[in-house]
Amino acid sequence: MFVNQHHLAHLLRPDQYTSEEQYRAELRHLFAPAWHPLCTVTDLPRPGDFVSFDLLETPILIRNFDGELRAFLNVCPHRHARITGKAKGSSEKLRCQYHGWEFNKEGGTGKIPEAKAFRPWDRENSCLTAFRLETCGELVFVNIAATGPNLREWLGPLFERWAPAFGGAYRHALTWEADFPCNWKVVLENSLESYHIPLVHPKTFGDMPPEENSWHELEPTYSTYKTMVPNDFPNRSSAWMVRRMGETFTGEYWHHVRHPHITFSGLDVHKLMMCVFPTGPRTCRYRSILYTVRGTRRGPLARALGRFLRPIVVTVAKKVFNEDGALFPEIQRGLEASPHRGVIGTREERIFTFQQFVADALRGPRELPLVS
Ligand code: FES
Ligand SMILES: [Fe+2]
Repeated sequence: MFVNQHHLAHLLRPDQYTSEEQYRAELRHLFAPAWHPLCTVTDLPRPGDFVSFDLLETPILIRNFDGELRAFLNVCPHRHARITGKAKGSSEKLRCQYHGWEFNKEGGTGKIPEAKAFRPWDRENSCLTAFRLETCGELVFVNIAATGPNLREWLGPLFERWAPAFGGAYRHALTWEADFPCNWKVVLENSLESYHIPLVHPKTFGDMPPEENSWHELEPTYSTYKTMVPNDFPNRSSAWMVRRMGETFTGEYWHHVRHPHITFSGLDVHKLMMCVFPTGPRTCRYRSILYTVRGTRRGPLARALGRFLRPIVVTVAKKVFNEDGALFPEIQRGLEASPHRGVIGTREERIFTFQQFVADALRGPRELPLVS
């Protein structure tokens, strides 16, 4: 059931989806304090493995130091070069690509070519900037603010709810991302409602679930949608397979959004984390990390079922992603020219909660940690 019985105000104006000022304020007040899911531990399993990201105008480097993951600003304290330009790789030492300064896992300097040229040594200004890094299941989160809640506190009840979904009985199947010519809130708001299903996903989902089968929960920092899947042939087949793999079949579909930008969703056969990052006032990057069931029962049948399900889930997830993605530029074009206030229906009430979070975070001066 929905929480509200009457329509709600569209709290954000169209220009808040286009303006540079809004974008700057959101980077500072919404994104700098947030935790960002960037990759999985399976992306850098061996010592020396690293991944890098250019998100939130902040080059980020994550590296495996003898099994321990650390995150740094990917900028060298010598003369500001990015330490690496590679998105992914492995190297024996963390070494800057320009002059070869080396760094340890604390971010301090190791070997410096021709070190005597830098006497007297300014230790304080020669360290990498470290970021906080924590995991939820196998998902690796980074926070670019020096202070603030830890990941468990920040995710609240979503931490325990989703940690077992990324790892254990589920294994990493695919990570993909796409850039869209639209404001990041267009993407997030689309994920917060089931109203668009009949027109945008007619073949993949069919009709929208009736209100009696749509359960909403609205909290200041997150919202929930839950529905039971229909008892049709594909779902009965899924149930059979999931049970053969040693798992309980619940028939539940769960969808959570942790404001401002993280979506967790999943059925018994899969778990999906999607995260949207602004890359400008009118552009964004949408990253998805998909896990599929492998079960806890070992043996050839469970393995075969896991291998069978995986490509099917990947195909459906990417199809849904592309169906939504085709609409994003259309919504942005409309926003650029809209004279309307907009309105939010009861089925879309999670959008209202999200917009409240955005409006509250940007209202008035406040002291929030900045990128150090
Ligand atoms: S800029 Fe990195 S070693 Fe010179
Ligand atoms: Fe959709």
